[in-house]
Amino acid sequence: MRGKVTSRSSRFILVIFTAITFLSYGGRVYGGITSTFIRSEWPSVDIPFDNEAFAVPKGHNAPQQVHITQGDYDGKAVIVSWVTSDAPGLSIVNFGTSPGRYTLSAEGTMTNYTFHDYKSGYIHHCLLEGLKYDTKYYYKIGEGESSREFSFQTPPKIGPDAPYKFGIIGDLGQTYNSLSTLEHYMHSGAQAVLFVGDLSYADRYQYNDVGLRWDTWGRFIEKIAAYQPWLWSAGNHEIEYMPYMGEVIPFKSYLHRYATPYLASKSSSPLWYAVRRASAHIIVLSSYSPFVKYTPQWMWLREEFKRVDREKTPWLIVLMHAPIYNSNNAHFMEGESMRSVFESWFVRNKVDVVFAGHVHAYERSYSVGRGKLWIIASCIQMLYWVIIKSDLFSTCRIKYLFLCGARILFNQPRLLGFCLSMEQDIFGFKSMGCRVGDACNLVTSHLGVVLDNYLLTKLSSKK
Ligand SMILES: [Fe+2]
Repeated sequence: MRGKVTSRSSRFILVIFTAITFLSYGGRVYGGITSTFIRSEWPSVDIPFDNEAFAVPKGHNAPQQVHITQGDYDGKAVIVSWVTSDAPGLSIVNFGTSPGRYTLSAEGTMTNYTFHDYKSGYIHHCLLEGLKYDTKYYYKIGEGESSREFSFQTPPKIGPDAPYKFGIIGDLGQTYNSLSTLEHYMHSGAQAVLFVGDLSYADRYQYNDVGLRWDTWGRFIEKIAAYQPWLWSAGNHEIEYMPYMGEVIPFKSYLHRYATPYLASKSSSPLWYAVRRASAHIIVLSSYSPFVKYTPQWMWLREEFKRVDREKTPWLIVLMHAPIYNSNNAHFMEGESMRSVFESWFVRNKVDVVFAGHVHAYERSYSVGRGKLWIIASCIQMLYWVIIKSDLFSTCRIKYLFLCGARILFNQPRLLGFCLSMEQDIFGFKSMGCRVGDACNLVTSHLGVVLDNYLLTKLSSKK
């Protein structure tokens, strides 16, 4: 949907079903640069290999790069993944609901791969099933003195009133700003991460360092990812098609290292899948896999939309890497092919919000699609939101706070202007029923400055 943006400060009200409220702190402001925010001089360079942020855990063959993700469709299973570097070791997770008392255990699988001359460690994936909702679990991996213990909290039972707080991170990388992003995120109170692609940026390296940078990234995120699930989607930096190095299998490192519960949603590929968590149905798409008519992803998505039950999960969220709208010259129309295929489906199925990454500049669109409630938020680095309550008969709100951090481009503060009003010249977004609202804030991760903040208010669970 293309049109002219007339105000960054707006409130949308879709009378029958959903109201989307954009809150502005500056009164009525027109497009262009909409924030005086200037990025910090924090160096946007990769953290060196020997930095403590990438420290290898002590002990022979100690598990490292520990991370978890949702393991089933409804949040009663978790996949625990880790790497052992010296020997295969055991793919066993001991777990239970009391610290130090592991009454349950599960055995997973081990895999490894080569990338040019790099040989990965032993990568373990273990599914913990039959978990209780809303319960804290403690788990232990590794052997003897090298074993390590972590914990996670399962989500509440699927339902329209289940409150939950998700974080969204994309394009993270492993720079000093990435570190700042993670540190801010740790204080956000969010309970799970929806990751919108571009994980390690290891593909910016050559030869063995590609694999080694995947290892450092795995250790880098462990302090969060071992304790709460990150739901993965793949970006262009996961493709790693490098024929000059003899590497021609797309997503090789990513698929070996980062598991997804794709079979639970009847997907044929880990690159696209869906989960339900609390009051949200989350659909993950792959921007860099075939999606035109009759391809597996197209056919899967058509069926997945039929499985959405708005009575149980009133919030319908789509994740992808390349935004189908963006106003960044460097990524002009990169999402256009997916837009042409799926936009009408999103509108018809009343998707609430689409989150994407890739452009390294925060953008939030106006509502898209003839009065329907779909909007796009294209972001970088981090944003998080709160599902405060999702009740059919009372006011339901999602609160979004946006945090930007690591891989941002310096000397281009104008990019942040797009967050509040889209670039009109390339893609505008039709604004409907706009009214000047309250506060519109965006939060940057390393400064904590609020620059964008808006509410999505759902007045009916169904649409
Ligand atoms: Fe990207």
